[in-house]
Parts: sequence; structure tokens; C-alpha cells
Amino acid sequence: MKITAVAPSNIAFIKYWGKKDQSLRLPENGSISMCLSGMKTITTVEFDKSYKIDQIIYNQHLEDNTLNRAVAHLEKIRNLARVTTHAKVQTITDFPSGTGLSSSASGFAALTLACSGALDLRLSERELSIIARQGSGSACRSIPDGFVEWLDGNTSQNSYAYSIFPSDYWDIYDIVAVVSLDRKEVPTTEGMSQVRKSKFFEKRLEGMKNKIIRCKKTIKDRDFTQFGELIESEALEMHAVMLTQSPPLIYWTTGTLILMRLVQMWRQNNLECYFTLNTGQNIHIMVKSAEKDQLISKLHDLEFINRIIVNQPSWGARLSDKHLF
Ligand code: DP6
Repeated sequence: MKITAVAPSNIAFIKYWGKKDQSLRLPENGSISMCLSGMKTITTVEFDKSYKIDQIIYNQHLEDNTLNRAVAHLEKIRNLARVTTHAKVQTITDFPSGTGLSSSASGFAALTLACSGALDLRLSERELSIIARQGSGSACRSIPDGFVEWLDGNTSQNSYAYSIFPSDYWDIYDIVAVVSLDRKEVPTTEGMSQVRKSKFFEKRLEGMKNKIIRCKKTIKDRDFTQFGELIESEALEMHAVMLTQSPPLIYWTTGTLILMRLVQMWRQNNLECYFTLNTGQNIHIMVKSAEKDQLISKLHDLEFINRIIVNQPSWGARLSDKHLF
């Protein structure tokens, strides 16, 4: 049976940076995110006895199966279903990958939903989230709708994501500015594995539970100023840990820095917007609905911006009947 799933990327407002279990991908702290309407991965999966090996076709390109995380993920789901049949997997991501825009989150969420559907596993949203997490931690947050919390948990079964507010709860925008298409030099998993080398990491962990509570309250109250100040300082705090790891991780480029300063300047001039960013040079800028056109027009004026992606809060992973093959 051929099954297709579509899953959005997500942006973390309170971030996951550090694992307490590397192979299960149990995070050191919980996190809060929002699913993104303008950035998604579509994946079609078919398990069939005629396939002699797994074939993974990513953005029209046949992937090498050695050390491929998608193949390892297929194997995990196959084991759950107690089958050995190989699969053909075709995937398209409609935004740049490897640039800090969480393509692995949407990719592993779509793969998890499509594979479990194709093997008729009938899993709950929580179970899907637990499996997606093991492919890429942040993928568990692309399964539920809207605004999402990922519980850190201390076993695989209690580290999952769930929706805290639906996608239509708050009319805010995440405008992504693609500063460059260059792929990051240090992959997220590798960078994150060195987190304890930063002497600031323990200090960061001390404040995380409180930050999660505050972040949920700002979303609940739709308090954009408190929300924006919190998420911008949270992004900078995570990057302070990255910068002080050994070896240091510097994901910012000149364009990133210019844009971070501009966002702060625009704010002083009454365009209220706040940035956040992950492992890459590209930036997410949060803005209220009434001011989004003004922000987009300012971004259009900047020559160094490659592409602008407009996102609203979105639903999570869904099945689709538009197969890719
Ligand atoms: C900085 O989920 O990509 O974007 O579990 O190793 O695949 P792995 O990491 P991943 O890490 C995301 C890190 C982040 C922050 C976040 O999205 O919470």
C-alpha cells in the first residue's frame, strides 16, 4: 500500500540543545514550538516484496543508504510492525535544507506518519511523536497541531509532544529570511553532542523549567511583547552556549548579524518584531498580523536576503492522497 504524509517544519521558541540520552534522543529540557504553514515535507512510502533494497529519493536525488538516518528510521518502524519488506521512499522538501530551518523535523515527522500508515500500525498521535523523536528530536514537535510542547521525560514513553493551543489560537506570523543557502558545516546532532563542554550549559538548564512556564503563559495571554522578549533572549542564550562549547559553534554569518541588529532597530522605531534562530545562518522573525506587510517590505529592500518565507501557525503532520510516485 502506498501512503503519503505531509508534515510542517516547526520553530522552537524555547529550544532543545542537549540530550540526556543520545540514541533515544531524550532532551535535557522540554521545549515549546509552533508548526509552520509555509515550510513542509511531503513523503510517499511503499513497502513491497518486489523491492530488493530500501530506496530513498530525496528531492529527486537517490540517496546513499550507508549511515542514512532515514533508512535506520525505516528499520525501526519495520521492527515495530514485525516485517522485513523493503520500501521505496520519495520525499520533497519545499524549503532549503541544512541551513537551520529544521528540515529534519518535517522530514522525520512525514516519514514516521507515512511509514506507520503504509504498515497499518494505527498509532496514536503520542506514539507517532515518540517514534518521530527517535529520528530527529525536533521532529516530535511536527506531529501535533499549532503551538506545541515537547515534554523532556525520563523514558522514551514519556518524552513526547502535544498541542498546547490550536493553530488558529493566535494570529501571529513567522517571517523567515533566508540569508544564504550554504549548508551548515557542523550538523546539529554533532554540535549538540558537545553541549556539556560549555560552562554555561548547567546554568542554562537551571532556568529552563521556569522559561517553559513563562513562554506558555505569554502564548496563552497572547502577550506579544513578553513573548517576543522571551524568545529572542532564549535564542541568544542557546547561541551563547554554542559559542562557548569546544570546539565553538558559530552558525552566524555577516548577514545574520546585520539582520539581528536591524530587527532590534526596527523595534526601536515602532515596528514590533523579534528574531529567533537555530543551527544555521537563516533567521525567523516573529511579527503580529497587522505589521507583517511592513516587515516583509523592509526585508525585500535588503539585497543580501535570498528568499522570504511567510508562515502562520499550522496544523501538524497529515495524510494526503497526492502520491509522489
Ligand atoms: C537548535 O532535532 O535537529 O533547532 O535530535 O540531533 O536530530 P537531533 O537534533 P534536531 O535539533 C534541533 C535543535 C534546534 C533547537 C530546536 O529546534 O529545539
